[in-house]
Amino acid sequence: MRHAPIDPQFFISNRRRLMRLLPPGSIALVNANDIPPTNSDGTLRPVPNSDLFYLTGVEQEESILLIFPDADDERLREILFLRETSELISIWEGHKLSREAARETTGIRNVQWISEFPKFLHRLMCEADHVWLNSNEHKRADIVVTSREARFVRGLQERYPLHQYHRLARLMHRLRIVKQPTEVELLKQACAITRDGFERVSRFVQPGVSEHEVEAEFAHEFIRQRGNFAYNPIIASGPNACILHYNDNDRPCRDGDLLLLDVAANYANYNADLTRTIPVNGRFTQRQRQVYEAVLRVLRASIAGLKPGTKPKHWQEAAEEMMARECVDLGLLKTSDLRENPEDPMKRPVKKYFMHGLGHPLGLDVHDVGFTTEPFAAGWVMTVEPGLYLRDEGFGVRLENDVLITDKGPVDLMADIPIEPDDIEKLMA
Ligand code: GLY
Ligand code: MN
Ligand code: MN
Repeated sequence: MRHAPIDPQFFISNRRRLMRLLPPGSIALVNANDIPPTNSDGTLRPVPNSDLFYLTGVEQEESILLIFPDADDERLREILFLRETSELISIWEGHKLSREAARETTGIRNVQWISEFPKFLHRLMCEADHVWLNSNEHKRADIVVTSREARFVRGLQERYPLHQYHRLARLMHRLRIVKQPTEVELLKQACAITRDGFERVSRFVQPGVSEHEVEAEFAHEFIRQRGNFAYNPIIASGPNACILHYNDNDRPCRDGDLLLLDVAANYANYNADLTRTIPVNGRFTQRQRQVYEAVLRVLRASIAGLKPGTKPKHWQEAAEEMMARECVDLGLLKTSDLRENPEDPMKRPVKKYFMHGLGHPLGLDVHDVGFTTEPFAAGWVMTVEPGLYLRDEGFGVRLENDVLITDKGPVDLMADIPIEPDDIEKLMA
């Protein structure tokens, strides 16, 4: 673990808040993620399970959290199961949590090796009526592999078919959408590392550098500061900016191009999500600046629109209406287009130039979990990311900041990352 230790009180209070949502006689079980295989004996970089991390701070594979607030024996109300460590494992794989270290990290007193799990489980299942199990219920998740938690659900239901099973995801989404003060601090740290990466890159970019060299500059700054990429970086010069999920990052940045940078850091498993669009030669052309300022106005208005009580859908629609008027001023749409209101929102004329969502919840996941059919509430962190993509003119502009919603108004967590075109030019000079 590269990040500084997190106060276990955070995890203790998260578990307490989950327990309050569980009806009597409930047992909740949360699994670590599998380490995804690649080819041969290779593996991808392990990614901690966000819910397990949120409830325990554990980032290690083959771990299980068991919560049973009504267990008759109070020592069995919270148990953490870990892969047993040994001298051999420490030689080959390095540090794994000892039981003592796990107690310190998580605030859970009862830590057992995973080999003991079936025995404890059986005893407690005989006492429980309701079983809360995790599943990935992100609305945009499209999963073809079988996860550890999906295998677990199947195995448990086969062995104990008569219990009442429930979706823990419903409760986790409810908790995780509202950020706790510790989470806001970690998000601010991820944003600060992201800012340093962006400023470093802004001083580095000039005609002739390749997109992959820009990626390397970000990597250097993020890793130097104990962070990592929050997601696959999009470093898209010229027309590449119009490919929304561009990840090749292999084209030379040319004089006169704009460079779209959708790149941010992850720190302690919390993600920033930043987009800036900068001129490769350090000066915007008049047209580029015109488009940039239109996107910036929509960004500013949309940040101001992040108020408790507003529905995300209405927030998105307001931005689309504003962007459509900007598109008329930019000569991209006709005034008559503003009156078109097709039933399918994807067919609105503005979608030709601004075809993606305005923003999403952010946290332990880049596209974080939460009920986005419900109105915004204090404690949500949302990205705000309007864009215009002009394929015919060979460039695109997107700007993206991360914003905390509060009762006293939105707090822009990226307010100190240069965004005004003059400030960008000054930074690059
Ligand atoms: N970088 C991913 C996103 O903006 O949603
Ligand atoms: Mn982004
Ligand atoms: Mn985003």
